[in-house]
Amino acid sequence: MLNDAHHLRGSLTLPGDKSISHRALLFAALGTGRSVLTGLGTGADVLGTAHCLRQLGVAIAIADDVAHVHSPGFSGWLTPAHPLDCGNSGTTMRLLLGLLAAHPRMTAQLDGDASLRKRPMARVVDPLATMGAQIAADLGRPPLRVVGQTLHGATHVLPVASAQVKSALLLAGLFAVGETIVQEPLPSRDHTERMLAGLGVALRSTGTQHAIAGRGPAAQLPALGDFAVPGDPSSAAFAVVAAVLHPDAAINVCGFSHNPTRVGFLRALERMGARVAIANPATVAGEPVGDVLAQSSVLQATDIAPDEVPSLIDELPILALAAAAAHGTSQFRGLAELRVKESDRLAAIVELLTLLGVATQSGADWLTIVGKGSAADFAATTASFRPGLDHRMAMTAAVANLCSPSRVAMHGFAEAVGSSWPDFNAAMARLSGD
Ligand code: S3P
Repeated sequence: MLNDAHHLRGSLTLPGDKSISHRALLFAALGTGRSVLTGLGTGADVLGTAHCLRQLGVAIAIADDVAHVHSPGFSGWLTPAHPLDCGNSGTTMRLLLGLLAAHPRMTAQLDGDASLRKRPMARVVDPLATMGAQIAADLGRPPLRVVGQTLHGATHVLPVASAQVKSALLLAGLFAVGETIVQEPLPSRDHTERMLAGLGVALRSTGTQHAIAGRGPAAQLPALGDFAVPGDPSSAAFAVVAAVLHPDAAINVCGFSHNPTRVGFLRALERMGARVAIANPATVAGEPVGDVLAQSSVLQATDIAPDEVPSLIDELPILALAAAAAHGTSQFRGLAELRVKESDRLAAIVELLTLLGVATQSGADWLTIVGKGSAADFAATTASFRPGLDHRMAMTAAVANLCSPSRVAMHGFAEAVGSSWPDFNAAMARLSGD
């Protein structure tokens, strides 16, 4: 792990967006024929989705960030011979569950690592059951056993904004009979809706309500074809905050999705006074993309309101680190979902900030951070922090070490970051000229 970079300079190319990469593989596998996906995420989560799809009879060859997919189409998927290992990835498990539940000849088991086995699946199992799905899960946790059925459409009013749950239900609804409606409390990331529209599947969406007409389990979809995955804004956030916190930094973070449901972190950093400038806006594969030039900044505290949380849900750990380096006290509210990510991230953020000598207060779904005014004022600690199997907590601690006197020791860092950005260390080392 790189500590204490003297400066951060140059351009950074990001891994392909994880959410879009999972969906690109799934959509390529749903259609019949060949697709070529470029810029695919290279982390273990995305490779895990590919591995599960191979077990369902889809041919997938991946070299670097290019995937060649040849699929018999959804109705040609085969019952897997072994349990499907979703590793650390909630997106893999929840989206695949929706699809497998809607496949009448399917019997499958879905499992994951120690982190995924603790995550709540009732939020997707229960609404699927109202469509006729047969899924067994002890206490609502993986492993899940699914016996596919012909599902019927249903109306779902989701208690939490979750793109994984929304996507699982819309995909199940696509292969069900009748209409499925999903109502979410706040807009969550909309990649599934954009990709469905790109494939010519009509969806009626009004911000938080989405209706899809079921085509039945024998429905044929076209191949996804050539599809370019944009860079990952959730990875970009670590580099952007590293530059903003570092006293001598000016970096260009290139070519990532600027989908408004994903870049709430840029809005929050702008409010804090961060020097972040957007450049080269374009559209790639139905997604707005762009670069961000990020420079050393003096930050002011900000409040994060519940209604903006879905647009920065995965960036809360690194935004909390930014708030820890700001002048003033920041309030983050509406954080209940942080408790059920790859780790209890609210507890993990408090633990990390405490090691850095930053005062916090927290409750079930809120966090107050008393900013130090500068990352230079973080404690020069060598205490150890266990990221568990949580890539975003590992990268947050790594950014602290890069930009401040802290030397937090981490066990399991490489394994943790491997799920989304295996080259994180090398990318940061290039920016620091090491
Ligand atoms: C994701 C949705 C979000 C996000 C996760 C990826 C997706 O999870 O935190 O990293 O690809 O749909 P929730 O649906 O649980 O909010």
